[in-house]
Amino acid sequence: MKFFIDTANLDDIKEAQSLGVLDGVTTNPSLMAKEGITGKNNILKHYVDICNIVDGEVSAEVIATDYDGMIKEGEELAELHEQIVVKLPMTKEGVKACKYFSDKGIKTNVTLVFSAGQAILAAKAGATFVSPFIGRLDDISTDGLALIEEIRQIYDNYGYETQILAASVRHTMHVVNCAKIGADVMTGPLSSILGLLKHPLTDIGLAQFLADYAKGNQ
Ligand code: E4P
Repeated sequence: MKFFIDTANLDDIKEAQSLGVLDGVTTNPSLMAKEGITGKNNILKHYVDICNIVDGEVSAEVIATDYDGMIKEGEELAELHEQIVVKLPMTKEGVKACKYFSDKGIKTNVTLVFSAGQAILAAKAGATFVSPFIGRLDDISTDGLALIEEIRQIYDNYGYETQILAASVRHTMHVVNCAKIGADVMTGPLSSILGLLKHPLTDIGLAQFLADYAKGNQ
């Protein structure tokens, strides 16, 4: 399973990249705003900065909601850097734009997906990635992981090549469960990745090894 980090924070991206396990980055307009990145030129520059840190795909979301606007914006984003993936909302216009970009060989990520039906449309439109938001489904007492399983089954039935990008991952067990049920990619905050490191027996075991070494090597 590929690991993407879901942030526009350059320090977090650098830290995840330095671990050597990072495959890409996802951003969205809220994450950019959280980092105080505003104004078109600053936003475009920030995407390039991210691409220069990470070795992998970087999703950059369009703001336009009409087809022509999405095409114009998406082309501009795709020209920024070869690692850019154009992120489009799951709307009628977004699906049309996805088909346009996939026909041109430009990578796409269809976002804000909350149902299997939407995921079928994204795959039919040739999306590189489909982003079901599991955390937001869990937030409303719906099973986000069940949606990933449903999409996995449908995509496998038909050999759709669209990668299932489990988004809105909130914690470490989301990551583990996404891996168990065959998500191709997960995107989550740095804490969801670093949390995978933690086990008290690892800490206890290491402390013991170091103590025993110190006894024999004074
Ligand atoms: C996906 O690409 C989105 O950026 C993201 O995963 C949304 O996560 P949230 O529900 O934690 O905001």
